[in-house]
Formats: sequence, C-alpha cells, structure tokens
Amino acid sequence: MVKQTLKPIENWQEEEELLVLGFFEKDGKPFGSELGNEIFANLAYGLSNLRGDFQGKFGQKSLSYRIKPKRILFVGLGEEEKFTPEKHKEIAGQVGCCVRDLGVKSFTTEVFANSFEPQRVKAQVEGHGLGLYRFDAYKKFAHQVEEIKILVDFPDRVKEAFNQGLTLVEAVSFVRDLVNEPASAMTPEKLVSFALSLLKLNCSSVQSGAKFSLLGNEKIRVKIFRKPELRAQKMNLILAVGDGSKNEPRLIELEYKPRVHQNEKPYVLVGKAVCFDAGGLQIKTADSMKDMKIDMAGGAAVLGAIKAIASLNLPLWIVGLVPAVENIPSGSSYKPGDIIKSRSGKTIEIGHTDAEGRLILFDALSCAKEKYSPYLIVDIATLTSACMVALGKHYAGLFGNSREFLEKMKIAGQESGDKVWELPLDEKFLKDMESKVADLKNTGSPFGGAINAACFLQEAVGKEQSWLHLDIAGPAFQDEATGFGTRLLLQFFLNELKRD
Ligand code: BES
Ligand code: MG
Ligand code: ZN
Repeated sequence: MVKQTLKPIENWQEEEELLVLGFFEKDGKPFGSELGNEIFANLAYGLSNLRGDFQGKFGQKSLSYRIKPKRILFVGLGEEEKFTPEKHKEIAGQVGCCVRDLGVKSFTTEVFANSFEPQRVKAQVEGHGLGLYRFDAYKKFAHQVEEIKILVDFPDRVKEAFNQGLTLVEAVSFVRDLVNEPASAMTPEKLVSFALSLLKLNCSSVQSGAKFSLLGNEKIRVKIFRKPELRAQKMNLILAVGDGSKNEPRLIELEYKPRVHQNEKPYVLVGKAVCFDAGGLQIKTADSMKDMKIDMAGGAAVLGAIKAIASLNLPLWIVGLVPAVENIPSGSSYKPGDIIKSRSGKTIEIGHTDAEGRLILFDALSCAKEKYSPYLIVDIATLTSACMVALGKHYAGLFGNSREFLEKMKIAGQESGDKVWELPLDEKFLKDMESKVADLKNTGSPFGGAINAACFLQEAVGKEQSWLHLDIAGPAFQDEATGFGTRLLLQFFLNELKRD
C-alpha cells in the first residue's frame, strides 16, 4: 500500500520530485485554490506559463518541467460547484495513475478544495490510495508510486479524517486482494488463513489442522467451523452446497466486542463466500462461469469492514459470519430435487443447484438470529445475475424489513460512494417458491430473480428481526474486484455512532 503522510504547508520544499496543483474552471479559465495560488506566487510562476489550452476542465492535466520542483502537474477539477466528494475521489485516483505512468516514486500535492474540511482530506486520501491499487501478487509492475505527501494548514485538525481514509484504503485493498486471488488459491480453507493472517491474528493453530479453533486477540475473537462443527450445528445447507468439492466448507465467525460499546445487542454482518461458483450439477455456461472466483466478494467485504472497524476502535459490538464453500459439480454434489433440512428446521427443496448463495446464507442467517438476537443483521452477497440486469454495475440492490435501517443504509450509500438502490421485498414472490414436498424451494418464478432470492432469505430471519440484504452481484466486479461494500458498511457504522 502506498504510504501517505500529512505535511504542514510551510514545510513544503522546492526539492520535491513532483508537485501536484488542482485548478477549478471558471468562465473557461483556470483558477487555483488559495494554497495553490500561494505556492504559485512563491514560485514566481505566473498562470500565463500554463499551457494555453489548460482551462481547468475536469480531468484535464498539464505537465510542466522546471528546475525546482522538477515537475508541476496541473490538474483540472472542473467547476467548483460541481466538485463533489465523489468527483474529488475520482480525480485523486486519476492523478495517482497519471503520476505512476510518469515513473515518479513520490509526489507532493495540495488538497483539491478551497478548504481543509476533514471530508475533503479523506476524499483525497481515499482517491489516491484506491486509484493506485493494483493486484500485484503475480505480476510485477515497472512503476510504483511509494509515497504521497499531502499539504494542509494544520495536520492535527484533519488527523482523524486522514486516518479514516487510510484505514479505508487498507481495508478495501485487502478485500480487493482476496477477491482478485484466483479460485484455486482461495479455497474455503485458504480464505480462512488469508483472513486470519491479514487480520493480523495468530493463525498457527488453525493451519496445524486443529478441528476447532478459538483464537484470542485483544480485539477480534475468531472461531472456525469445520465439517464436524457444521454438522453439530445442523448447518446442512452449507454442508450440502459444499458436498461437491474436495475443498470442504467452512464457517468463519468473527466477533469484535470492545470493552466499551454503545449497543446492548450486536450488529451481525453475514457475507456470502462461494469461493468458486461453477453452478453445481446444473452447471453454468462457459461464459457465465469465467469470473465466478468473485462469488466470495460479500464474505470478503464483511472481513474488510470488521478489519476497518477494529482498526478504528469504533465503540460498537459487531459480529461477522462468513460461510465459505465451493459450488462444484462432481459425483458427490448435492442434486436438483434434494430435500435438505436447514439449521432452522425448515426443509428446503433444491429447485436449482446454482441458487446456492441463498442456501448457505439461510443457515448463516438463522444462526445469526438465534445465537445473537442482533440489533440488526446485514447480509451482503453476489447473489443474483438478475440484480445486475436490473441495476447495472454501479448499484447494489437493497432490501430489508426495517424502514429506519433501509433509509440509513441509503444515506451511507450516498456518503460512501458505494451506491445502493432499494428493491421491493414483497411476499407475493414467495408463492412461487412454495414446494409440494418441502417447506420451501430455493427457486421461484423466472422473473424478479433478485426479489425471489431476498424473499427466500427473509424466511430465515423472519419479520421481527431487523434485517437488511445487499445484492452486490453487479458492483462487486468491474474487470477486477472493486471491494464494494466495505466503504458502505464502514460509513453505515460511523453514522450509527452519531445516533442520538
Ligand atoms: N453467483 C451467482 C450470481 C452472480 C451472477 C453473481 C453474476 C455475480 C455475477 C449465483 O449463485 C447464481 O448463480 N444465481 C443464479 C440463480 C438462479 C439459478 C435462480 C442466477 O442469478 O442466475
Ligand atoms: Mg450460483
Ligand atoms: Zn453464487
């Protein structure tokens, strides 16, 4: 991860390798921020030296070579009124890529805004950090930016926002790494060890083959359920989906319970981690299978969110449940028509082996509800291609049974940039999921697939338990993993702290 530091403006030095200055556009001309202008004046470098075609339009860039500093990069921010935090993150990301292509190892930049509002500092850190992310586990890249220095007037005043930004970058990069990892390197057991090592927990006893591990860490307690524990807990749906693969299923349970916390009951996050979804016996087509290593993105987002929450020491009690399986066809796979007794006692008829996500979530949700009586359950899953068809690649589908929490999640979506759109949770859809031979079937009508899945999950949590469901099939992946959901969940919890 690229190192980012805050630097008081007066410590700015002309020796910098590269200085980055942002310019808004007004009446077709560029104008700098106060700081930009100040530095500019000190450099005795008039605006007229800028290339004539640089107007400050959003995304415009102009590079100028000098003696001290060696280079200045002028960046267009567009019209000031339209420069939202989202645009801010976008341009900060672009700067990162542009600088990397220059082969520069470090750069110094001002905050692209006319104030040092904490939110702006956070946007800049997030933009640079995530814009510069690359999955480099298997390929070494020629150029890498190593350090970014951000100039501010009083570093102490924006320290909190700065740290939040850094924590976010770290958590989202961690999630992207997990999701980008090829499926053969990210089996359920490997997800367990990746998760534990990246959460900086001691994982030796897990890898030594202990059947059951209860690992201590000051902040996060982790428990891994392997087959015997899954059987003991009657998690037969998780077991059934995992039956087809020699890589056995796992359930990861994490608990972050700081000594001081504001909620009497925990929030429980449940994340789908299908490490590879081939569809099971009702196998997917070649094309729809090719990116299915990403089907654990919900589980990864839960790990990332808890990592961020713990590093920020948020005074909230939060539990994570991540069922991890492979959905693979083989002689031992579960079959269409099978009837399986879920952990909750409800029997499920398998209408389609490719509708596996809702099955593993069903067991995890019923466990979340019974074991913790949570204040709120939020599940997050790459659940249906129907949701991606409905909302595209930039919005997650949002469902839930609590108006209050639905609205709060929408606000977190707007603030974090991980956008959500509410879809209806209408019981009418359940009619099609009735089974003649079991309490419920895991498929419904061919229409409204995302809603069918949400209604199915609702049957595991019931109406009394507050619950939200996020279908991230669309935004979890855009050529490569996005880390979608981590920022959303973290923002949601930061807002929960502002409650009352
Ligand atoms: N993992 C898929 C959903 C998915 C599709 C996620 C594309 C990301 C991108 C899920 O398990 C699945 O296969 N769903 C089926 C359900 C159907 C068989 C009822 C689907 O959406 O086609
Ligand atoms: Mg599937
Ligand atoms: Zn799936």
